[in-house]
Amino acid sequence: PPTAPHPAPSGVPVVDLGTTGVGRTPIQHTMGLMRTHDPVLVRRLHGRETLFVADADLVADLADEDRFAKHIGPALENVRAFTADGLFTAYNDEPNWAKAHDILMPAFALGSMRTYHPVMLRVARRLIDSWDRAAHAGRPVDVADDMTRMTLDTIGLAGFGYDFGSFGRERPHPFVESMVRCLEWSMTRVAAPAGRDHAAADAAFRRDADFLAGVVDDVVAARTGTDQSGAEDLLGLMLSAPHPADGTTLDPANIRNQVITFLIAGHETTSGAMSFALYYLAKHPAVLRLVQREADALWGDAADPEPTYEDVGRLTYTRQVLNEALRLWPTAAAFSRHAREATLLGGRIPLAAGQPVTVLTPMLHRQPVWGDNPELFDPERFTAEAEEARPVHAFKPFGTGERACIGRQFALHEATMLLALLVHRYRLHDHAGYRLDVKETLTLKPEGFTLTLTPRTPAD
Ligand code: HEM
Repeated sequence: PPTAPHPAPSGVPVVDLGTTGVGRTPIQHTMGLMRTHDPVLVRRLHGRETLFVADADLVADLADEDRFAKHIGPALENVRAFTADGLFTAYNDEPNWAKAHDILMPAFALGSMRTYHPVMLRVARRLIDSWDRAAHAGRPVDVADDMTRMTLDTIGLAGFGYDFGSFGRERPHPFVESMVRCLEWSMTRVAAPAGRDHAAADAAFRRDADFLAGVVDDVVAARTGTDQSGAEDLLGLMLSAPHPADGTTLDPANIRNQVITFLIAGHETTSGAMSFALYYLAKHPAVLRLVQREADALWGDAADPEPTYEDVGRLTYTRQVLNEALRLWPTAAAFSRHAREATLLGGRIPLAAGQPVTVLTPMLHRQPVWGDNPELFDPERFTAEAEEARPVHAFKPFGTGERACIGRQFALHEATMLLALLVHRYRLHDHAGYRLDVKETLTLKPEGFTLTLTPRTPAD
């Protein structure tokens, strides 16, 4: 449950924004505050204080699971209005967190990616068909929209055997439109001034949340009543796997919360990550060339390569590119921790028991441990040697500890394969001279980023 307000710790600068607000880009706004002030600061807005940190030593300290735990801050409190005790938004001590975590963990072990691989490839081919048509017609593609189509169909099919059919639709699936509005509501409602009337916004939110729940009920109904034996996807596990400790399964209300959680967490951030990676590739031809060379080494000039599960593990440079995109724009850009007991953060910042601290990941990823030019896109930062030389907690796009991202391998497998397939097939043209415009809907995406495509020829 939400904790009482805590006084700003002594010695930490307080930036008082009064009632000016942070607009529609709170993450980038706070990044700006850190650039002008300090990588540790308290932001005061409408009288509410939030302690933000990006300093690498402090984040390393916050990763100490004995002294700190995940905190559900105001934004996630709002998300709880539609995901409740689903994995992402459950309180640490809610029994359904450990129960669902234990039941679902096997579905996310590295070996399970072998099971999802054919589905991921099938959906990647939908995207390629759609991009082939655009290339043929000389029509630009909206990168983030198409990445979202691809990741939603992938999690729907791989997790739940449900086909959103996003590439057959002119506009995004209505699930996506409602979800985006729910996430925006969660984000802006936090910073909304007290005393103003939010009834209309709240009612619109409730309609969207009900619509999401309805879609989830369809997803589950499509499955229940059918034979579950052999269904090893997420929904199969949720409906039938007994908890290893007490033999019970998840209850229907919790299953609904989990399905909605996975449909959102399983596609929104991965889609942004691939979009940023394509943005950087379009802007860095020498890097693009290296990714193409890596894909060419596996698939030669095959017109329709058939990537194997093992191939994806060999795409190490492509993986470096994704990591570097996630460094500059970690698409879930903040996560919060609280002190289990009163403690000194980093040996210098006094925190009371329960006091929350929010890690601003994009700024952590621009700290001096990243060298003199952290704004520069450079996948060489993720060679095995470079990673070894760096403190482990300097890179946190997937959060930390036992509440870190359960879907990390899923996202990386899906994204690495797709990126390699795309650069193997197309030349990417930054036809509009795109200038990065990062849209925030709790997660981050490049807004309005379009590319034109031409098929590669063997000489390219
Ligand atoms: C948790 C990021 C992809 C499912 C998290 C957290 C982060 C994150 C930062 C921790 C949040 C916190 O501490 O409050 C990302 C990024 C992704 C990605 C950047 C893609 C590039 C996925 C995918 C799935 C997924 C593909 C599912 C298939 C989850 C779930 C949690 C989570 C269920 C909550 C885990 C728990 O608390 O037990 N993710 N995620 N994520 N993620 Fe991801």
